[in-house]
Amino acid sequence: MCGIVGYIGNRQAYPVILKGLKRLEYRGYDSAGIALLQEGQLAVHKKQGKVADLEELVAGKRVQANIGIGHTRWATHGAPNDINAHPHLSGDGKLAIVHNGIIENYASIKKDLIQKGHRFLGDTDSEVIAHFIEEIKRQNQCALEEAIRLVLKRIVGAYVIVILDCDNPGELIAVRKGSPLVIGIGKGEHFLASDASPIIEYTQEVVYVNDYEIAIVRPDELVLKNSSNEVQTPYIQKLDMELASIEKDGYDYFMQKEIFEQPQRIFDSLRGRLNAQKGRLTLGGLHQYMDAFIQANRMVILACGTSWHAGLVAEYMIEKMARIPVEVEYASEFRYRDPIINKGDVILAISQSGETADTLVAIEEAKEKGAVVFGVCNVVGASIPRVSHAGAYTHAGPEIGVASTKAFTAQLTVLVQIAIKVGYEKGTLSPSQYFNLLHALEQIPDKVAEVLKKDQEIKEIARKYEGYKDFLFLGRGYNFPVALEGALKLKEVSYIHAEGYPAAEMKHGPIALVEESLPVVFIATRDAHYSKIVSNIQEVKARNGKVIAVVNEGDDTLRELVDDVIAVPETEEALAPLVNVIPLQLLAYHIGVLKNLDVDKPRNLAKSVTVE
Ligand code: F6R
Repeated sequence: MCGIVGYIGNRQAYPVILKGLKRLEYRGYDSAGIALLQEGQLAVHKKQGKVADLEELVAGKRVQANIGIGHTRWATHGAPNDINAHPHLSGDGKLAIVHNGIIENYASIKKDLIQKGHRFLGDTDSEVIAHFIEEIKRQNQCALEEAIRLVLKRIVGAYVIVILDCDNPGELIAVRKGSPLVIGIGKGEHFLASDASPIIEYTQEVVYVNDYEIAIVRPDELVLKNSSNEVQTPYIQKLDMELASIEKDGYDYFMQKEIFEQPQRIFDSLRGRLNAQKGRLTLGGLHQYMDAFIQANRMVILACGTSWHAGLVAEYMIEKMARIPVEVEYASEFRYRDPIINKGDVILAISQSGETADTLVAIEEAKEKGAVVFGVCNVVGASIPRVSHAGAYTHAGPEIGVASTKAFTAQLTVLVQIAIKVGYEKGTLSPSQYFNLLHALEQIPDKVAEVLKKDQEIKEIARKYEGYKDFLFLGRGYNFPVALEGALKLKEVSYIHAEGYPAAEMKHGPIALVEESLPVVFIATRDAHYSKIVSNIQEVKARNGKVIAVVNEGDDTLRELVDDVIAVPETEEALAPLVNVIPLQLLAYHIGVLKNLDVDKPRNLAKSVTVE
């Protein structure tokens, strides 16, 4: 949700910022811009479209500068055009800002500024910040830092703002509340970014700026101050990220790379936690809160999108194995209905990015009401893990494709480990069930690798169906959330309308849609619901529907009944989503690519949704 890069030091700022913006483009890609300070003057270049369009615009222009800021945008206020692209300038043109987030009370501030004579060029909330800082600085005759501090007291919302000022040419000032900001520490240079990916090739040492902190960043110095203007000692952390993990590595798309990485990422998520031979399962973060889990009267899972689907799978797992009642809530809905939190409730927050604003504010609300919050996140050091009482990282590595794939299966891997561990400790899983599950879990990376060998076969099926306009995805039990996820992947990357439903619900409405032009994808692997789902398939076939079925290997009954099958290895029912979702990811990927779409950056989407 908007990517920010800043540089100050001895290098040429432009190439550093441009490369950084390309790395952050997954956060938003409707326009991009850059401001450089050249001999005391600001040079600003902005362009609607992708970072490559900005690069083309700037080609041949003079870009020499050792300090600058850049931005790649996901529009909230104002159309994605050149004018609304960041950086934005103050009225006197001396101050440039880039902003990630939303200023909720911008309209009243803007009105007030207009009355004072300010003239705005575009429609963004962000442009207001530049003018507001200028106005406050002038009114109070104060230094920039003080003006920023005063402005922060007046604005409501979420933000990272980085400010470049002609009158303060030796520093960048950055502030954060509710959106991420990382500062890379180099020798005589500093890098600012929305995540560590633009920084990693220059330095491993980073500081994650906290909410309400102000960072004054000079080539040789990083001064961090809290909201009371007290200097803080920056907590320098070592980055645990490899450059290769944020590059395509020979694949056509990040989405493809990330789908194919899944055996390794699931393995990474089990590494150091699972030892099936010794019957050991250890999740560090869980250990300390095991009593809270065992005694929980209720668990509430909070998440959005794909992470919410992982939460639905977890509901089935936890209820079955640990016998704890679970509610799975869209974080955005939970937050605003004055949620009831009782003593003994445990909140499980699931988020790839760890920055999703809806999830973040929901868990803050739950925490305030006394709940124990356990975070399941991928990005180390992100906001959600930081505000959670405890948690477990999913270890999927950076996910760059906007449509989530490997993060989903890594989430499932962590969630099933939680369910198994709590169930075992609570005594609701017998030792033999426990050992069986551990052994089955250990085999999942190999089973996922088996499914990936079907890539070409799935591509052929994609070719057959790429022209259809609507799809239905159906599954029962553990496979119902898989159906939802399959439908979401398809609509995200191919723009084909797709719905996911519990298969039994079909006859309560969606069956009205069934006809020859509606492909129905059934997830019909062998489990407790198998015979029922076979009946549901019959119902679709009886109405001339086209059926693609994900079945277990050796299932000749369904092979004969349906139009196309994708056979996957069998596993324990609770682990089947980890295997069964893979063909649906590949189907969506191939249909998107066949339709000539940029599957890594679907239209209108952005990764890491840091606005509510
Ligand atoms: C879908 C997708 C989104 C995210 C959702 C939550 O492919 O990626 O639906 O799952 O925006 O994001 P996180 O998991 O970062 O909280």
